[in-house]
Amino acid sequence: MSTAGVPSDIEERAATLRDQLNHHNHLYHVLDAPELPDPEYDKLFRELQRLEEQYPALQMPGSPTHRVGGGPLDKFSKVEHRQAMLSLDNAFSVEELTAFDKRVRERLKSTTATIEYVAEPKLDGLAVSLVYQDGIFVQGATRGDGQTGEDITPNLRTIKSLPLVLKGAPKGRIEARGEVFIDKQAFESLNKDQQNKQEKVFVNPRNAAAGSLRLLDSSITASRPLRITIYSTGLLELDEQTPETHWDMLQWFGDMGFPISTVSEKLDGVAACQAYYDTILQNRQSLDFEIDGVVFKVNRFDYQQQLGFVSRAPRWAVAYKFPAEEATTTLLSVDFQVGRTGALTPVARLEPVFVGGAMVSNATLHNMDEVARKGIMVGDTVVVRRAGDVIPEVVSAVESMRPESASHIGLPKSCPVCDSPVTVSDDVAVAKCSGGFVCTAQRREALKHFVSRRAMNIDGLGEKVIDQLLARDLVNRPSDFYKLNKEQLLELDLIAEKSADNLLAAIENSKKTTLDRFLYSLGIPEIGETTAKQLALHFGQLESLIAAPLDYFVPTGIEGIGKTRAQTIVKTIADEPQLPDGEALKQWLLDSLPRIKPAEVDSLLKMYPDAVALRTIEVNAIQSKGESRVEGVGQTMAGLIVQFFQTEENIAEIENLRKAGVEWTVAQTPVAAAGEGVLAGNVYVITGKFENMARDEIASRLASKGAKVTGSVSKKTTALICGEAAGSKLSKAESLGIEIIDEAALALLLGSDEL
Ligand code: IVH
Repeated sequence: MSTAGVPSDIEERAATLRDQLNHHNHLYHVLDAPELPDPEYDKLFRELQRLEEQYPALQMPGSPTHRVGGGPLDKFSKVEHRQAMLSLDNAFSVEELTAFDKRVRERLKSTTATIEYVAEPKLDGLAVSLVYQDGIFVQGATRGDGQTGEDITPNLRTIKSLPLVLKGAPKGRIEARGEVFIDKQAFESLNKDQQNKQEKVFVNPRNAAAGSLRLLDSSITASRPLRITIYSTGLLELDEQTPETHWDMLQWFGDMGFPISTVSEKLDGVAACQAYYDTILQNRQSLDFEIDGVVFKVNRFDYQQQLGFVSRAPRWAVAYKFPAEEATTTLLSVDFQVGRTGALTPVARLEPVFVGGAMVSNATLHNMDEVARKGIMVGDTVVVRRAGDVIPEVVSAVESMRPESASHIGLPKSCPVCDSPVTVSDDVAVAKCSGGFVCTAQRREALKHFVSRRAMNIDGLGEKVIDQLLARDLVNRPSDFYKLNKEQLLELDLIAEKSADNLLAAIENSKKTTLDRFLYSLGIPEIGETTAKQLALHFGQLESLIAAPLDYFVPTGIEGIGKTRAQTIVKTIADEPQLPDGEALKQWLLDSLPRIKPAEVDSLLKMYPDAVALRTIEVNAIQSKGESRVEGVGQTMAGLIVQFFQTEENIAEIENLRKAGVEWTVAQTPVAAAGEGVLAGNVYVITGKFENMARDEIASRLASKGAKVTGSVSKKTTALICGEAAGSKLSKAESLGIEIIDEAALALLLGSDEL
């Protein structure tokens, strides 16, 4: 029977065309062995396209005209695994690992000798099997139930790290097995993309990898950042000899072009295995991808054979799992915690749950934007995550389990601690208590921050002591710490004679500090340690920083003047040896500067009223929205810094601290005020070892002359200051044609004021 309204000869022709095109498409895209010249293929393709246009009833999802790459498919076909894809037995403790090793040794009757194992990370993705015939990738499948999986060849072909043709592979069948996964960072950007496109956001990298591999349209899979690592072999059918150990097998796979793990190791005995586990667990965060444990495999294949299998797992391997980082529990209620800067953080009170190796009953919900994005409600079953040292967080809600009684999470109108009104600003998406120092919570956090190790480093002033000091009204602001006496301390719980003495000594010692620590300890919003260091380096003394106006940090410049025009203006002025003065100067500017508008000349003259001033003109100052003068300090941070130092109480408190004896080392040379130094506008990078000066000193002396010192060489770098044994920075500077200054030239640069 013919399809509705399509003559049967046409229908037959379309079917033949589809078959032929699919066949050639397969040869071209899957086997990399095209038979048909491209123009011939195109001719057949166009013929089918025309027929389908003429008779829309011929359109079907499987038609090659609908394909992009290898898809879309109707469904996946089944693949029988010729050798079952097994799973692994787990161990969760050193005892269980030891028991595994003992079983292995007993079965092998080698009770004395240590066993050689191969240790590998246990990747958290999806197991796949890849079949290669005569070195060509012909079929890829999921694990499925271990016996039967799904054919996902077109999807696997889109993975860039998967070799389509093997290097120097023998004739015959090779089956490699491995894990498909997504890097942590790639996962974050994938989710951002998904969000922008208003599409589904993935819960974790594993789900994203699994979802991407099981898409029927491989052109979408192609856009997903999938990776693969090979960790074992399946059935091999080859004439030649293959490796005799797992380790050699991995190297063999690597030589043929398969990606294999770079953190694998060959280890002797169980103690080395435990040490490997400890190291990987410790460094887990620094890996690009997520792992949920490590796998130990007996290295020798003859031993593996002797050991065999039990149910669905080999006796020769074990997965030593890390404590689970995610668990589900019930969200009982939400409280709001007030931070040092007044920011309100929603905190989840949970039904206690064991996760990441510890009991968790509180977790952060970050902020109200996150609550809304994740759609979390009180009463929900939620996924809680606790990884390493990070604060436990609520990752998502299991919507399908939401009870009818679930209620929305609302932001309080007033501070839960001091009752001051709560303000919400759009640009920072953070709700804040407006109480400032009135709010005990903010005071407490500010005091804790002031004494913390990286700030003033006062040992012995823990949370409990601070709470007591606050409760007794002994300390309200940082300078109050320096007024404490022994009698007062002895009245506190938990403080005896000796610890009172120690505490007083620690307080006394903290008075000698450095400018960057002091700045950090003030708790200026958004100013972390790194920025505090940059500020100290740049300004050298507190007074210059306090005096710096907003547009010193990020020059606002002159509206409408871009970088190129700014450069032309600066050059034109610099090239004129004799600048006129008064009215003549205005005329000269109008005549000499290309495309200049009278209003722009007025703005220039407002900034630089005469010829002498005009000599100090710099690109960054006139260019509209110029670059920040202090590394890492943009418009927002600059605003917060200026606001902090414009607040009278803050200046008064700095004065109190100074009077109490707090002092810091000042940079050897005072920093140029407001970028007027001889090196203003210049950007230097320092690298290598110097004979007569420490790198810090060079940096602070350059800064004192108005220069900016940055960490990496770019086109914006004025020169590279280069000592002995310089590395990649030197080659980068050379490749960019950037000036290189040695120690002798540096001395001239620092000594001369004529530059
Ligand atoms: S070997 C017969 N090695 O873990 C041994 N598996 O729990 C078969 N996995 O299905 C697996 N990293 O998806 C092996 N280095 C690794 C692994 C690994 C992750 C996964 C794999 C397997 C599951 C078993």
